Amino acid sequence: MGGATSLPQVSLTTDHVVLITGGNTGIGYETAKWIAMMGARVIIACRSEERAKKAIEKMQEEFEGEKSKSTPGVCSRETLAVEFMKLDLTSLKSVESFVESFKAKESKLHILLCNAGIAMHEQEYTEDGFEIMFQVNYLGHFLLVTKLLPIMLDSGEDCRVILVSSGAHQAASFDLGKAQGKHHTKESFKRLLYYGNSKLYQIMQMYSLNRRLNTTNVTVNSLHPGIVETEITRSFTDLMLWKVFLGASKLLQVTKTPFEGAKTSINAAVNPEFKDTRDAYYMDMRVKQANRLARDQEKQEALWQYSIDCLKEFLKPEDLNFLNKG
Ligand SMILES: NC(=O)c1ccc[n+]([C@@H]2O[C@H](COP(=O)([O-])OP(=O)(O)OC[C@H]3O[C@@H](n4cnc5c(N)ncnc54)[C@H](OP(=O)(O)O)[C@@H]3O)[C@@H](O)[C@H]2O)c1
Repeated sequence: MGGATSLPQVSLTTDHVVLITGGNTGIGYETAKWIAMMGARVIIACRSEERAKKAIEKMQEEFEGEKSKSTPGVCSRETLAVEFMKLDLTSLKSVESFVESFKAKESKLHILLCNAGIAMHEQEYTEDGFEIMFQVNYLGHFLLVTKLLPIMLDSGEDCRVILVSSGAHQAASFDLGKAQGKHHTKESFKRLLYYGNSKLYQIMQMYSLNRRLNTTNVTVNSLHPGIVETEITRSFTDLMLWKVFLGASKLLQVTKTPFEGAKTSINAAVNPEFKDTRDAYYMDMRVKQANRLARDQEKQEALWQYSIDCLKEFLKPEDLNFLNKG
């Protein structure tokens, strides 16, 4: 695999527990595979067991290939330590049962990569009644992070939460009264805007969490992976304009492979240089500034409260007491 030398040269052990949502394809697949090849134990949290198991088999084959080429930074284990656990972010109950299963088998969690996502989906509501991109990209992860933070706070130094956001947050607007888009018809629903909003919320969540965790061992950062050729286009192949945009991006060679796209996630997760970094919005492995809306503290706190209200059946006030530790 070309370019592996540009990855951070870190040696991890199976004592490092890494959880990545949507690790069976695209950016998440490459992120999970390379962090596992550095030696960590990686759990991919996916909605399809079949797709996840196939992905793990493919990772093992690609690992053999990297070992035979003696790729720098690739560990010498017999097999990669990658496991599947079931998680469907369209269901808050699924998030809850995922957390129960995770807590029953794991006592540590060092890196949590919130990577799973859907983009520019048409208007649809989950079983919990939320707009689907809001829930999959943001709210489901909000619940997951909040429920797993007590374990992370107890997992030793340099624990990291990474929120895989998007440059699409630049196209967002902030109006919590319209956050679910229920005032729209299917025809008037603005798919890019609602995708961008979900990605904006992730960055705002980063700031809110860091305010609460700033003296702890857990840091929270976010990132834009670039324009990456993955299966993310699944839900908007009907949008001609986007086909043209992606085609032009490819011609201009501004699109990245999933491996190239994963580099920012991998660096954010394991690069020792980023130890103690908080509130970063990484792009191309550099810290950039998220937009003005994302940095608005008053709006961040309004979103925090809105999210807690959305999750009132799943999060009791006492579930949040630990956040005051920071
Ligand atoms: N590609 C880009 O240009 C780009 C740009 C900016 C940001 N991003 C962000 O990067 C992240 C990864 O995207 P990608 O490009 O790698 O897309 P992808 O190839 O479509 O992968 C998305 C992953 O999310 C999983 N997922 C979707 N819905 C889920 C659900 N309900 N529950 C659990 N997992 C679910 C998918 O699982 P299945 O395989 O089962 O569907 C898949 O593993 C996303 O957060 C995306 O917003 C991507």
